[in-house]
Amino acid sequence: MLQNDLLLRALNGECVSRPPVWMMRQAGRFLPAYQKLREQYDFFTRCQTPELVAQITCLPVDVLGVDAAILFSDILVVLPAMGIEVQLIEGKGPWLVNPVERPTDTDRIRVPDVSQSLGYVFQGIRATLEKLDNRVPLIGFAGAPWTLLCYLVEGKGSSSFEKARAFCYHYPAAAHDLLSKLTRTTIAYLQEQVKAGVHCIQLFDSWAGWLTPEAFEEFALPYLQEITTTLSAYCPVILFPKGISFGLSALANSGAHAIGIDWTISPNQARTLVGNKLTLQGNLDPAVLLTDAHTIKQHTQHMIQVFGVNRYIANLGHGILPQTPVENARIFVQTVQEYTPEALSTKS
Ligand code: CP3
Repeated sequence: MLQNDLLLRALNGECVSRPPVWMMRQAGRFLPAYQKLREQYDFFTRCQTPELVAQITCLPVDVLGVDAAILFSDILVVLPAMGIEVQLIEGKGPWLVNPVERPTDTDRIRVPDVSQSLGYVFQGIRATLEKLDNRVPLIGFAGAPWTLLCYLVEGKGSSSFEKARAFCYHYPAAAHDLLSKLTRTTIAYLQEQVKAGVHCIQLFDSWAGWLTPEAFEEFALPYLQEITTTLSAYCPVILFPKGISFGLSALANSGAHAIGIDWTISPNQARTLVGNKLTLQGNLDPAVLLTDAHTIKQHTQHMIQVFGVNRYIANLGHGILPQTPVENARIFVQTVQEYTPEALSTKS
């Protein structure tokens, strides 16, 4: 039995005394103990070694007391399993040796047997669950097909993924072929994560907002829906389609238990679009955590007040910034955990 199941209760729409809180990208990036491990092991070694996965995943639970752990891994780990080599270059980010440039390149991409090729992830989950010892739920995750296609075609990170967008317009059949292979792989991959013991999953569509509403409907939505409909039979599903207020109402009927929103949409607007049946997650601007205690508390309390305590998971609107001081992250987490509507009204 979980000692703290607030996240799962919020996902199921149960009444809670305060919202659960965790932060996207909390397992790496900004924690000094993680930076030390970075000096000792390269990125994929960190992802592929179950003891390191468990250790890094538990860091924010130990250091900050967040209400959920997210597995230390990366959305890009499925690509090598599908036949595409990925490197992580210091200071530059992901780099693909042979990206997809022409339609025939998609022939090289296979749908793998994930239980073989990604077995280290599932071992990492088991090691993490042991180390977590039922303190908080463990969130599994994967990248959404469109966001993975961005890296497959662009071959690296980008500020706007125009090559990937052009590929979809130029070669729609090849794009759909690729997206469908990515979808089949992602479904199998997430199902195996659930079998290994994760309590819920988040699907990151970090670059959905680069698509036009029509392109989102064609190249992202059906694949998100397919994954969510299938996975929600196994565990609660959180969708994070960044930057697509125009697509929120369509996603409300995808079987997802929760939708993560970024800071470019107000909680009230999101609630109107998504309706009352789903949980919302988000959406503090991560830049708020670069300020001071007073400003962080003010913005965090205001955010909860607007979202409301129920059907809500407090989080940032995107990943925590690497330069965030640990103390500021702690203030954010504590402010949520100490939140009571009464305390707020006596202070204001
Ligand atoms: O940070 C965590 O909570 C751990 C798990 C995690 C990582 N990546 C570890 C990581 C998660 C959930 C991700 C998701 C991810 N990876 C996304 C979606 C979320 C988002 O932020 O939009 C995306 C787009 C990626 C792709 C990716 N991986 C990039 C662009 C980079 C380089 C820049 C960076 O730091 O984001 C990575 C590498 C990566 N993945 C690092 C970490 C901790 C940094 C590399 C390092 O520590 O050496």
